[in-house]
Amino acid sequence: MNLKGRSFVTLLDYTKEEIEFLLGLSERLKNEKASNTPHRFLEGKNVVLLFQKDSTRTRCAFEAGAYDLGMGVTYLGPSGSQMGKKESIKDTARVLGRMYDGIQFRGYRNSDVEQLAKYSGVPVWNGLTDLYHPTQILADFLTVKENFGKLVGINFTYIGDARNNMGNSLMIGCAKLGINFTAVAPKNLWPEQSLVDHCKNLAKDSGSSITLTEDKMEGTKNADVLYTDVWVSMGEPKEVWRSRIDELNDYQVDLDLMKNAKQSAIFMHCLPAFHGDDTDIGAEVAKEFGDKYPRVKKGEMEVTDEVIESPQSKVFDEAENRMHTIKAVMLATMSDSY
Ligand code: CP
Ligand code: NVA
Repeated sequence: MNLKGRSFVTLLDYTKEEIEFLLGLSERLKNEKASNTPHRFLEGKNVVLLFQKDSTRTRCAFEAGAYDLGMGVTYLGPSGSQMGKKESIKDTARVLGRMYDGIQFRGYRNSDVEQLAKYSGVPVWNGLTDLYHPTQILADFLTVKENFGKLVGINFTYIGDARNNMGNSLMIGCAKLGINFTAVAPKNLWPEQSLVDHCKNLAKDSGSSITLTEDKMEGTKNADVLYTDVWVSMGEPKEVWRSRIDELNDYQVDLDLMKNAKQSAIFMHCLPAFHGDDTDIGAEVAKEFGDKYPRVKKGEMEVTDEVIESPQSKVFDEAENRMHTIKAVMLATMSDSY
């Protein structure tokens, strides 16, 4: 398997075998880190991390991962560069491609990361756009594999805002790798029909299924994994909180819903998660909408605190796996000797 020179913009560009290869390489790098085995395979190279939106996990996974691999890193935050304001994405791509050996992009439009990949001449990695979040899926699948020893045949239920970057990318990843994917959400928050149709075709090839339902009991029955994400994503206007809470309050993951899944089921979330009132936005939303929704009053939105803190919750393993999987993506796309 040789992925050198490739960008990582969407999982749609990668075959089942290539994704499995990246997961295998992630496992190897995780073991090498745990055993203090040096793996500075990219010594002398430099990467730049472009963030139009904020981040904790993705930024730190790229930075710590790049250091482990022996590289230098530049971080450009939402207000730290000319990109998009005084300089086009196309020009930015051609400038950064002259100076760096790889580019990470987090932003709004998926077409921006596509442009960077097209014009920079170096591998470009999508660290989240409104449409996709492909590096997150690798960490999610590594976590599933660690818990169940397999991916094929796993029943994976995503509940919540299913037409966002996470819903889209999880559906694609599951369809490619033979994981049965169910999205549970009100109809207006289902993924785009064209993407659903495409994924149904991919699922046919991998022997899995794609199911969309509004019925949370039906959709979580027999689930091995219950996965949710924030009700309002980065870049969406504050005003959507009101309708989103009305639409998704019944789809909150609580212990009763976990009980409806398999006894061995795990809970996952890409994080950050609203499960208490100890965040600024959580407290603000709790204050504004808490009177109508008692759990929201405690800052519990897509998931309750009890679930996040339960033994079934794997969210921090999942967060750690961001680093191991992102290292695999950088290494495999920047080098063929490791
Ligand atoms: N899951 C994730 O992408 O987290 P950050 O926004 O902190 O990078
Ligand atoms: N859907 C979320 C994912 C965060 C990692 C967002 O875009 O804000």
